[in-house]
Amino acid sequence: MTRPRPYDVLLYGATGFVGAQTVAYFAEHAGGLRWALGGRDAARLEAVRAQAGPGAAQAGIVVADAQDARALRTLARKTRVVLSTAGPFALHGSTLVAACVEQRTHYVDITGETPWVRGLIDRHHTEAAAGGTRIIPGCGFDSVPSDLGAWLVAQALWQAHGEPCTSVKAVFSLRGGLNGGTFASMMQVLDSGQQDLVADPFLLNPPGTAPDDVQPHADPHAPHRDADFDAWLGPFFMGPINTRVVRRSVALMAAPSPFAADFHYQEYLRFGRGPVAALAAAGFSIGAVAGQQAMGFGVVRRLAQAVAPAPGQGPSQATMDGGSFRCELLGRSAGGHEQRGCIAGQGDPGNRATTRFVCEAALALALQADALPGGSGRGGVLTPASGLGEVLARRLQAAGMTVAPLPAGRNN
Ligand SMILES: NC(=O)c1ccc[n+]([C@@H]2O[C@H](COP(=O)([O-])OP(=O)(O)OC[C@H]3O[C@@H](n4cnc5c(N)ncnc54)[C@H](OP(=O)(O)O)[C@@H]3O)[C@@H](O)[C@H]2O)c1
Repeated sequence: MTRPRPYDVLLYGATGFVGAQTVAYFAEHAGGLRWALGGRDAARLEAVRAQAGPGAAQAGIVVADAQDARALRTLARKTRVVLSTAGPFALHGSTLVAACVEQRTHYVDITGETPWVRGLIDRHHTEAAAGGTRIIPGCGFDSVPSDLGAWLVAQALWQAHGEPCTSVKAVFSLRGGLNGGTFASMMQVLDSGQQDLVADPFLLNPPGTAPDDVQPHADPHAPHRDADFDAWLGPFFMGPINTRVVRRSVALMAAPSPFAADFHYQEYLRFGRGPVAALAAAGFSIGAVAGQQAMGFGVVRRLAQAVAPAPGQGPSQATMDGGSFRCELLGRSAGGHEQRGCIAGQGDPGNRATTRFVCEAALALALQADALPGGSGRGGVLTPASGLGEVLARRLQAAGMTVAPLPAGRNN
């Protein structure tokens, strides 16, 4: 990045439901940074900028359609960091990432489309690594709490006992709504016929880093009473996304790694303690499997599409403000030591928390590149933990989230 670029951060997909929230976040938190809104429609971008108030008045506007390679190349040359919320990413993200890698522009997004991320790794990891360009998908609710949380717990065990972490279990509680864009992305994955890829527990790992026997890492499907969390737990619907990201982080971790070679990670949804919770966990587990199978039929997908919110729509302000999430973690070390952790925050996970996660990720890249894992020269198709690590954890805590345990030795 030798030539000066007019912008530090460009918010691509700024007209979308989450995109407009990233604009509002930057209007409030971007301080002296030079930033811009990006998308395919100038008039709609101007309307979103005006809606965000005086804090956005100086923000630029860059117009580029997601399929226009030349316009996206020009866009990527104008900024040091791209933050994209233009999904489904398999439809609107590939040309943009290619432009960012070519122009050495750091990139973060909020995708949960793991087959698409696998394609990015195959096409771009080597070139991005050579160019020192950080391409970091999955910086929304999927998969920041899982990925940062597992790493923080493992790191704490390593610091306290000098022992690698052999397992982390994460348990989620959440309250929130569904975005039309999220539903469209789920449909995109189903329609693409890539369910076999989605089911691979090590889909995102670098070549040669998956164990011979992947069965012990398979996604859970049944409920169980968990003594560690004193609650009934069921499968977490985002586990098939988050666990792949965590496993990639573990594989990318530079030596000495806080993770053991046979590290296990799994995550669950919390239902509570009593018999009602047991029934709910069982019902939810059966429903999840049945629902997944039913969605294999086109007629069921069309029915679901008819009742789900359309792209551009999402939960009400009251639902978003009243939402919350809590990700509790328990790690164990090779010598049997235990470490608990927690990442939690107020607001709908898919909107308020996702906006905070991805905006703070972009701000970390723009403002603290030298402090990031591996130093300013590191690049590749990375994960929140391997690409942003402690810097993101501290930024999220400063932004009001619960993030624990933070590494000792600095002012928290
Ligand atoms: N990780 C998480 O927890 C999380 C949470 C929420 C959402 N998401 C993901 O984020 C994505 C966006 O969600 P959303 O609810 O904000 O969706 P949305 O409201 O439908 O927004 C989609 C955005 O993509 C843009 N877009 C579509 N086609 C384009 C094209 N050809 N060129 C340029 N831009 C184009 C849209 O622009 P126009 O306005 O011009 O149509 C809009 O800005 C989805 O993939 C969703 O799954 C992830």
